[in-house]
Amino acid sequence: MPEPIEGFSKLSKEEKIRWIAEQYTKDPEASISLLKTYWNTDERRQQLHDEFIENTLTNYYLPFGIAPNFLINGKLYAMPMAIEESSVVAAASKAAKFWLNRGGFKTEVLGTEKIGQVHFMYEGDPARLEEFITSITPLFYEETRPITKNMVARGGGIKKIELRNKTRDLDHYYQLHCTFETLDAMGANFINSCLEQFAKTLRREAATTDTLEDSERDIEVVMSILSNYVPQCLVRAEVSCKVEELGADTGISPEEFADKLVRAVAIANAEPYRAVTHNKGIMNGIDAVVLATGNDFRAVEAGIHAYASREGSYRSLTRAEISNGVFRFWIEIPIALGTVGGLTTLHPLVKLALEILQHPSAKELMGIVAVAGLAQNFAAVQSLVTTGIQQGHMKMHLLNILNQMEATEEEKKQLVEYFKKHSATHNAVVEALENLRESS
Ligand code: MEV
Repeated sequence: MPEPIEGFSKLSKEEKIRWIAEQYTKDPEASISLLKTYWNTDERRQQLHDEFIENTLTNYYLPFGIAPNFLINGKLYAMPMAIEESSVVAAASKAAKFWLNRGGFKTEVLGTEKIGQVHFMYEGDPARLEEFITSITPLFYEETRPITKNMVARGGGIKKIELRNKTRDLDHYYQLHCTFETLDAMGANFINSCLEQFAKTLRREAATTDTLEDSERDIEVVMSILSNYVPQCLVRAEVSCKVEELGADTGISPEEFADKLVRAVAIANAEPYRAVTHNKGIMNGIDAVVLATGNDFRAVEAGIHAYASREGSYRSLTRAEISNGVFRFWIEIPIALGTVGGLTTLHPLVKLALEILQHPSAKELMGIVAVAGLAQNFAAVQSLVTTGIQQGHMKMHLLNILNQMEATEEEKKQLVEYFKKHSATHNAVVEALENLRESS
């Protein structure tokens, strides 16, 4: 039975590893040695990774792959992707190649505003609060100048500070709803620092103002934090082609294929159970690029799913239509990304990913990520409405099964060849490997 521990974070890395292995694993020496095999041999690099978080024991590998041939706004990109799911990079590459010869992807950034809020409680006259907030708004700007100076010089900063009365949703609840432009930075630290200063200014000024009555001066600031919901930080990506250019290798006519694609997207738009899976496939592409470029995929996930529900029901993030013989397929997502600061300057592989993407601005990266989502969805829906998903999926999963069964390189080579012509279910792979081993 493991014991609780005091001061774990103060132990050395070796001590932490020994403690966890001895308390929680069956074979402590084997666990210790496993953890250590994932250390980087370059000590300085390992230290860099150790210091990203607290209580680091080792590194957790994810594959870092590339999907080439993405033509986006006339420029050719290779998409870096960090993901564990076998078929994602292959699907992205397939979709990229398909659209390469049909004009590629077009993207447009529809807005770059980010949001942060100071949530506070006020018991008093709303009109007097409004007068008070208007009177101290110049102070909000002035007292955050040390934080905003550099951002303003580059063209960003605080764009708007609004008082919002939320008392219809919760008694006495108001907010400062603030809009920011953070350019190439994701901006979380910048926004949160500004908000915390607004909160200080608000409390201090409220305590002494003549605009409020005595009983109204004790404003309670509950919290000050950015929002990961960014519906005004929006990007759109689109592909289109003549219907007759669709459907090669699918075994059905281009018209039938186009109709099936449109119908599949319409179903995802109408039915939340399907929409969640449809959008999960989109996030396969989005998260992989977001992670490879050192951005916060949890923030991106939360914001995008909220956007998918903006009409009161969870819907598809993509849309498809056929009009005048042209098939159009597009996505619109809110996404706050950074290409400077944070991990982008620290993690060597993130730096390389951004170099591979030719040092995009945050706006360019928004477009690239939206394309990754659209491409992934195109590939998934194409499979779903034609062969089904398992055929391609199991082909990609084949190596995982063979590795689980400790197949040799020669066995893998022979079985990969064999399953080019046979259906690769789990049982079929196990059986084929057993047969191969028996026959040799
Ligand atoms: C699997 O990771 C993703 C899919 O389920 C997406 C979809 O159903 O559209 C294939």
